[in-house]
Amino acid sequence: MSSIDRPGPASLASRLRRRYWSVYAGTYDAIWDSPLTEQIGLEVLGALDPQGPVLEVGCGTGLVTRQLVEGGRVVISLDADPVMIRHMARHGVRGVTQADAAQLPLADASFPNVVLANVLHVVEDPSAVLLEAMRVASPLGRVVVTWPVDRLHPQALSRTERRLGRSRAGAARANLLRIITGVPGAALRVRRWRTSDLAQHLDDARLSSAWEPLDARVVHGTVHLNTYAIRERSASEAVG
Ligand SMILES: C[S@@+](CC[C@H](N)C(=O)[O-])C[C@H]1O[C@@H](n2cnc3c(N)ncnc32)[C@H](O)[C@@H]1O
Repeated sequence: MSSIDRPGPASLASRLRRRYWSVYAGTYDAIWDSPLTEQIGLEVLGALDPQGPVLEVGCGTGLVTRQLVEGGRVVISLDADPVMIRHMARHGVRGVTQADAAQLPLADASFPNVVLANVLHVVEDPSAVLLEAMRVASPLGRVVVTWPVDRLHPQALSRTERRLGRSRAGAARANLLRIITGVPGAALRVRRWRTSDLAQHLDDARLSSAWEPLDARVVHGTVHLNTYAIRERSASEAVG
């Protein structure tokens, strides 16, 4: 993202950008309920601390939530968009809270796992969202972040989806819907942060507190995804 304006939270442009997610909710599952998203869910599952509940921030229609629940995890989800939340019911997930990722209505140190799946690259202020995730993560907790790689080409995406088992018609329909849904997104200038920006935010957030990368890798070719997991250091580790 080259030019970044930062309107105040109450500006009209900012409010309209947020409504974009209500529009996207209508086509989200037709685009992303796919073997590719299942891979993302598995990637997140594998990065979690094996113990304790998971706070999922920016859950959308619940595609990753479903994977986490199927993987045996207790998940508490929230999202800023009310229409996305309504769609969660389709996946049998209830009790989702509407909240802004940059101002979580949660106490400090309340979750051993915090997940930001495909969210950080679209929020207005990734740094604020990351710091909130770290604030609510409990001591020695984990924050797991995923986002798509830059310049995710539709044809490459389709090829991957087909390889993972999506039907040709399903992959083609998803691509068409991506283009259609992308038009209002571009018109509203919905943010799409680049990997280098987000990696920098992660480094800054990590360095400003006692966190270390548990795992930092970029997965190409299979799921077109960046996954970072960070873990809070113990007091003795932080001193050492
Ligand atoms: C690309 S979708 C990802 C949804 C889901 N995590 C998934 O992987 O299928 C991004 C989601 O982030 C939500 N979102 C965007 N900005 C947000 C914010 N500031 N606070 C909470 N959720 C936000 C949107 O409403 C949308 O549901």
